[in-house]
Amino acid sequence: MNIRPRRNRKSEAVRRMVEETKVTTDDFIFPLFLLEGANDKIEVDSMPGIYRLGLEKILKEIEACLKLGINAFDVFPVVPEHYKDKVATKSFDPNFFYQKALKRIKSEFPEAAIMTDVALDPYNSDGHDGLMKNGEILNDETLEVLGKMALAQAETGIDIIGPSDMMDGRVAYIREVLDDNGFKNVSIMSYTAKYASAFYGPFRDALDSAPKKGDKKTYQMNPANQREALIEADLDIEEGADFLMVKPALAYLDVIKLLKDNYAQPIAAYNVSGEYAMLKAAGMKGWLDYDRTMMETLLSIKRAGADVILTYHAKEFALLTKGK
Ligand code: PBG
Repeated sequence: MNIRPRRNRKSEAVRRMVEETKVTTDDFIFPLFLLEGANDKIEVDSMPGIYRLGLEKILKEIEACLKLGINAFDVFPVVPEHYKDKVATKSFDPNFFYQKALKRIKSEFPEAAIMTDVALDPYNSDGHDGLMKNGEILNDETLEVLGKMALAQAETGIDIIGPSDMMDGRVAYIREVLDDNGFKNVSIMSYTAKYASAFYGPFRDALDSAPKKGDKKTYQMNPANQREALIEADLDIEEGADFLMVKPALAYLDVIKLLKDNYAQPIAAYNVSGEYAMLKAAGMKGWLDYDRTMMETLLSIKRAGADVILTYHAKEFALLTKGK
């Protein structure tokens, strides 16, 4: 035998030398859930270890994470029901607690990269990402609201806009609104290939944002489709997206690889709430080794081609690997 692959696995030192993929906290965006009450803290039942936090608590959390080397955060608002209406008014109200909190976060931590979510579902009484009329999602009318929402968020000083709504034409529309208003340097991380997935369940619990009726299949992609992701990616590139995202991550590693092989823009993957919940639940039951399955999961997402990983494991990963 001339070739013995095991020689390159014979010791920790050799294994580390030939290791092809390394995950670091530089790769992460840590999603955070913001509550209106500044000092509130409520655990998400279906995501043990993940909390909805008021502004004061979120500031402390960001400070702690920055010390651990996590530099990017995606902030989602938990919108109380009485603020919701048909046209998602609070999503573009500069005096709403979310927009005010973003401003405070950026002023306290200008060095952190702050990302925001652009979609109607947390603010909309229908719980859909777009405007709804007679059971239909109105694509072009929705763009106007998305543009106003993106602008209100950009005005707070945030760094990256994340359109997660899957309306056609939204990246171009948002890019134009931002540029026309002097926000040329605000980035767009497009949810390029966002699938109509059951893995978002715990997130909708966290935000109380599940659709009141129906599902999201007329705008989010069919899990059966891979080639369709190329259509979405072509459009996003043409429309000015700075990053292309695949979501969820684990059940769509092939799509991450497909986009990585076909585009030069950085590829992001969203390791979603249900993926976190699966590992947590099995770990808590003693059925899986949580720390090791978490590391392996994050590694697999990076190996598939993700440059950026949005993950609820970010802080646990950082604590586990500190000093290693
Ligand atoms: C809102 C949005 C969702 C997620 C991110 N932004 C839910 C959805 O589309 O229903 C899911 C994130 C997760 O599951 O962790 N449009």
